[in-house]
Amino acid sequence: SAAEKGGYDSFMAKEIAEQPHAVGDTLLGRTKDDGELVLDELRISEDQLKNVNRITFVACGTAAYSSLVAKYAIEHWTRIPVDVVLAHEFRYSDPIVDERTLVVSVSQSGETMDTLMAVKHAKDLGALTLSICNTQGATIPRESDAVLYTHAGPEVAVASTKAFLAQITAAYLLGLYLAQLRGGTFADDAKAVMTELREMPEKIQEVLDRMDRVIEMANFMADTRSVLFLGRHVGFPIALEGALKLKEIAYIHAEGFAAGELKHGPIALIEPGQPVFVIVPSPDTPHELHKKVVSNIQEIRARGARTLVIAHDGDEDVEPFASEIIRVPQCSPLMAPLLTVIPLQVFALHLAMAKGLDADQPRNLAKSVTVE
Ligand code: G6P
Repeated sequence: SAAEKGGYDSFMAKEIAEQPHAVGDTLLGRTKDDGELVLDELRISEDQLKNVNRITFVACGTAAYSSLVAKYAIEHWTRIPVDVVLAHEFRYSDPIVDERTLVVSVSQSGETMDTLMAVKHAKDLGALTLSICNTQGATIPRESDAVLYTHAGPEVAVASTKAFLAQITAAYLLGLYLAQLRGGTFADDAKAVMTELREMPEKIQEVLDRMDRVIEMANFMADTRSVLFLGRHVGFPIALEGALKLKEIAYIHAEGFAAGELKHGPIALIEPGQPVFVIVPSPDTPHELHKKVVSNIQEIRARGARTLVIAHDGDEDVEPFASEIIRVPQCSPLMAPLLTVIPLQVFALHLAMAKGLDADQPRNLAKSVTVE
């Protein structure tokens, strides 16, 4: 009903608008004074967590993309190797898992059968299992040794938005906690990262307040047949998520690529007028990644692509090669996904609306897939 949507046209619009709270509430009261993470239900001891030498995320869909974002952060902070495995592939890959492996499942609903079966298999193999979940008391958290709830509030629209941001937030908390437990050089920086994480809800709101041009672009593009998305580092999973949103609700062929892969194939797809979103890393990203992505934009622009560039405030290097620039506030590289995904969500929603589609109830999809 209209009342349930709180004055928004759709649940998806409402849930996109709720993202500052989804992140803020997931952080709220989560750390004790000494930085220790408050897990909602914990049947894993501190010693067991200290002993972890491998982390495997299992998830499907959007939750798998939040896991991919988390991989970059957790490996950087903890130096523990992190894998992300699609839950429905996990059991069949003869996974290397033992009692020192932490298997983290990520699921909004907590009921996805593929993910549940992966968790059960991990338990059979003796792994420690932790569930990042948005639904209190759901099956996956009940089956797991520990749960870290995301507090995004109920998500109704089939296409996941606020749960995605909350999942990244929760996984970052887990990474920071593990880093602290293990001591080492990063432990000192964990506090600074927490401080930045706490500033994100405000920056997310700023992005939401700037969406007018993105909505206009979506309205112009109702006839578009194909859209490509490029990103690098944490921008790569954001490219995948941007493409997924467009497929799910606007039924447009969309593909996300790692920007570095462009020359190994995707550049062949570029023809005049092809719209390409590019998620540009912040200029202070290590290893000159910013420069490399700017040169990708230049390459595809030279071949006639319509470059729809998502860049941080103050990044002037993108200006000569961008057909459109969508600005997000400055932040450190690992925080950027919480901002850069938002224009892509809003774009998909408004493109679906421009095509006269019901964004909340896309054809063929279910909010929670409880069969294998
Ligand atoms: C379905 C939904 C997706 C969701 C995926 C995983 O396919 O349509 O939006 O990302 O399931 O759901 P979960 O509840 O496990 O996060």
